[in-house]
Amino acid sequence: MPTVSRRKLLQTTGAALVLARAATAESAASPAASPSFASVVKRRAMIRAYTAEPIPEEVVQRLLEYAVRAPSAGNLQPWEFVLVQDPEVRARLAKAALDQTSVATAPLIIATCADTQRMGQRYGGRGNFYSLVDTAFASLLILLGVVEQGLGACFVGAYDPVQVVDILGLPDHVRPVGLITIGYPAQRPAKPRTKKIPLQRLIHRNTWQAK
Ligand SMILES: Cc1cc2nc3c(=O)[nH]c(=O)nc-3n(C[C@H](O)[C@H](O)[C@H](O)COP(=O)(O)O)c2cc1C
Repeated sequence: MPTVSRRKLLQTTGAALVLARAATAESAASPAASPSFASVVKRRAMIRAYTAEPIPEEVVQRLLEYAVRAPSAGNLQPWEFVLVQDPEVRARLAKAALDQTSVATAPLIIATCADTQRMGQRYGGRGNFYSLVDTAFASLLILLGVVEQGLGACFVGAYDPVQVVDILGLPDHVRPVGLITIGYPAQRPAKPRTKKIPLQRLIHRNTWQAK
């Protein structure tokens, strides 16, 4: 393909991405025009490359407001959020996350953390399990909110927890769950989308059936 037309194509693609993002953000701002739940779920996919554009504070707040609507055992709400924007801290987290570059380059990381003490006081041994489940639910709401807001995100769970606890200065009873890297997408989601196991292979009625 000649250079000029390739450049033109890239410009068109870039403009389309900007327009698509503006449309999504606009529809998110007006509840009447919000994308449908089905569309948000369908479009959700991990995005690992971001532009350096910072995320407006009101958008960050909206994501967190979604997160805290998550269900929670006994409504104890064990989640805590560490917002990381400092490039130096992001670089250290990237190292702790097995050198994943997206962790260093994302303009924002929301480290979702579980306060195991808050749960443990009521639920004893089960508290640890509940605090992780609840915080994972909250993390998913962030990932869905990200789609609504025209952002991209990746849930990073491959990290050395000891290092992450140290970098973020977490107290002993607070466990990191996800490092959610967030930014305006510099890539389109993979096409075709990540393959999912056919649903029929996953459904068991009444009792487990070997398939
Ligand atoms: C518990 C957990 C840990 C994950 N850890 C990472 C990770 O460290 N790095 C990464 O790039 N993606 C990570 N992912 C994202 C998965 O790779 C991704 O969800 C999966 O490939 C399906 O793709 P999709 O979410 O785009 O449908 C993680 C997802 C989960 C749920």
